[in-house]
Amino acid sequence: MELKRTHYCSDLRVEDVDRDVVLMGWCKTRRDHGGVIFVDLYDYTGISQIVFKMEISEDSHVLADTIRGEFVLAVKGKVAHRIEGNVNPKLPTGQIEVLVEILEILNQSLTPPYVLENRENVDEKLRLTYRFLDLRDSKLQNNLMLRSKAMQIVRNYYTSQRFFEIETPILTKSTPEGARDYLVPSRVNPGLFYALPQSPQLFKQLLMISGYDRYIQIARCFRDEDLRGNRQPEFTQIDLELSFTEPEEIFELTEGLMVQLFEQTIGVKVETPFPLMTYQHAMENYGSDAPDIRFEMKLKDISDIAAECELRVFKQVVDKGGIVKAICVPGGAELSRKDLDDLTEFAQIYGAKGMAWIKLNPDGWQSPIAKFFTDEQKLSLEERVGLNEGDLVLFCADQKKIVYDALGNLRMEIARRRGLINDSEYRFVWVTDFPLFEYSESEKSYTSSHHPFTMPNTDDLEKYGEASPEKIRSRAYDVVLNGVEIGGGSIRIHREDIQNKVFRLLKLTDEEIESKFDFLMKALSYGAPPHGGIALGFDRLMMFLLKTNSIRDVIAFPKTQKAGCLMTDAPSEVEADQLDELHIRVKASAHQTE
Ligand code: AMO
Ligand code: AMP
Repeated sequence: MELKRTHYCSDLRVEDVDRDVVLMGWCKTRRDHGGVIFVDLYDYTGISQIVFKMEISEDSHVLADTIRGEFVLAVKGKVAHRIEGNVNPKLPTGQIEVLVEILEILNQSLTPPYVLENRENVDEKLRLTYRFLDLRDSKLQNNLMLRSKAMQIVRNYYTSQRFFEIETPILTKSTPEGARDYLVPSRVNPGLFYALPQSPQLFKQLLMISGYDRYIQIARCFRDEDLRGNRQPEFTQIDLELSFTEPEEIFELTEGLMVQLFEQTIGVKVETPFPLMTYQHAMENYGSDAPDIRFEMKLKDISDIAAECELRVFKQVVDKGGIVKAICVPGGAELSRKDLDDLTEFAQIYGAKGMAWIKLNPDGWQSPIAKFFTDEQKLSLEERVGLNEGDLVLFCADQKKIVYDALGNLRMEIARRRGLINDSEYRFVWVTDFPLFEYSESEKSYTSSHHPFTMPNTDDLEKYGEASPEKIRSRAYDVVLNGVEIGGGSIRIHREDIQNKVFRLLKLTDEEIESKFDFLMKALSYGAPPHGGIALGFDRLMMFLLKTNSIRDVIAFPKTQKAGCLMTDAPSEVEADQLDELHIRVKASAHQTE
C-alpha cells in the first residue's frame, strides 16, 4: 500500500471541499456516465462517492474501468461539491464527492454468490456459507458494533461496582445446567475427557469461597441441547457472583445495568424497580414462568364452576384432580369458525384435547357448551372471566401442566395475531420462588429446576424433605423481559450438609457425589461464605436492543439448527492419526446417520 488512509468513507462533509484525502474501502457499485466513472466506496461507516475523470487522471480512469463489485480500493483525491442534480440528501456524504487523482486496486474480488444488497431475499444457508460476505452488510455490522458497545457498558458498570473480571476454564469438568456436555478428549490421559462449561457456575462459587467477593465474566457457555429460536450451542452470558448477598442486592444491581444498557445503546428509559412475581402466580395467571406482562388476558380458574356443570369432560377432569381454566379475548366474538379451528389446532400442539369456547353476542351466549350451564353458572362464569359483549372465552380442561402450557401459549398467539402487543414497550419482571425440583416423567426422578447448587427454602426443606420434594421452593429467580427469560440466578448452597441433602434428593449416590463434586464438597467445608449470583443471556439481550427475532443476527459466526457452521463446515471428520492419538474409534455407522 503506497497510500495512507486519512478518512473513513462516511467522514467527509461540505467543510472538507478542496481538501486532499485518502479513502480506502470496497466498491459497492460502479457506474459509467458518458466517460465519467462513479464508484460508491464503502466501509463499515458508510459510503463516499468517488469520481474518475479522464482530465484529472488518465491512468486512474483506465484502471477504474476494471473495477468490479467488492474490489478493495485506495484512492487519493480532492473533495468537491457534487453538482446540483447529483446531491443525495439521504447520505451524510451526499453533498460531496472525491475527484480521484490516484487509484490503487488493493485486491480484486470474484463476483459474490448473490447480490449483497439483496440479502433479505437470499436463502440463509447460502449467506451462512459466505458469512464473511454477509457480515459486510451494514445492518449486521451495526448489530455487532452495538454488541461491542454493550460489552463495554457491562464491563464499566460492574467494575465500577467493585467487581473483578476473572476468567474461568473452558477445558473443565461437567457443570450441569440441564443440557448435555460437549466433551473434549484428552490426548495425554487416554480415555479421559474434559467437558466444556455449560456455565462457569462452580468456578464462580469457588471464587467466592476464595474471597474474591464480587466476580464478573463475559463468559462463553456450551450446551449440547435442542436448538430453538433464541438458543445457540455456544452463547455468551454476563455471569456474576457476589458474597454476603441477598436477592434484593442482585435485583438492584441487575436493574441498574439494564437502565444504563438500554439508555446508552438505544436511548430507552427502563423503569425500575422491576415488579416481583412468584413462580406460582406467574403460572396461574400467565401459564408460563416467563410471563409477558405487556398485555392482560390472564388465565382464570373456573374449576369450581366446571365441577358443578353438566359438561362431562369438565366434570371428569376436575374429579380426577385436573383443572379448568379460561382466557377471555376482548372483542374475540368476531373470530370465525375457521379462526377457532386454527386456534384449537394450535392448542393441541401443547397437548390440549379440545378447546371449548363461548362468544357473548348481543343476543346472549353462542357456544357449543352453553346448554351444560345453568343461568346462575353462566353468570358466575361471566363474572369470573370478565366477559363482556363482543368477547370470546376459550377453555382448557386437563392436568395443570397441559392447561398452563396450552392456554399460556394461546394467550401469546392470540395477542400476536390480534396486535395486542406494543412493540416499543420493555416490561421486565422478576420471577421468584421457583420450585427446587421438577419431576421428570421420562426419567422417573427429580431434576433441579435451576441447578443443583441452588439454595432451597430451608423451612420447606425441613417440612417436605424426601416425602414431597416437589413442594420445596428454592431461592432462585429469573429476570424476564417481554415474555423472554433473559437471565436466571439464585442464592447458592454454602453449607456442605445442605448440598449433600440436595444431592441425595436428586438420587446421587455417594460414589457419584465423590466423582463429580468432590472438589465442591471439600471447598464448602473450608469456610464458604453465603453467596449468590445471576447470569444474563447476552445474546438474548442484544436481540432486544436490536429488535431482531433471530439470535443469528447478533452473533458474528453463529451455528445452524443442527449445531453446524456452514462456513467452516464444522463439525467435520478428522484424520485417523488424530483419532488414534486421542485413543478414539468412531463407530462405522455413526457418520452415515447424519
Ligand atoms: P441459565 O441456565 O438460566 O443459568 O442461563 C442464564 C441465561 O443464559 C441464557 N441462555 C442462552 N442463551 C442462548 N442460547 C442458549 N442455549 C442459552 N441457554 C441459556 C438465557 C438464560 O436466562 N449458572 C446459571 C446462572 C446462575 O445461577 O448464576 C445459568 O447458567 O438468557
Ligand atoms: P365434546 O363433548 O367432546 O364434543 O366437547 C365439547 C366441547 O368441549 C368442544 O368444543 C370441545 O372442543 C371442547 N373440549 C373437549 N375436551 C376439552 C378439554 N379437555 N378442554 C377444553 N375443552 C374441551
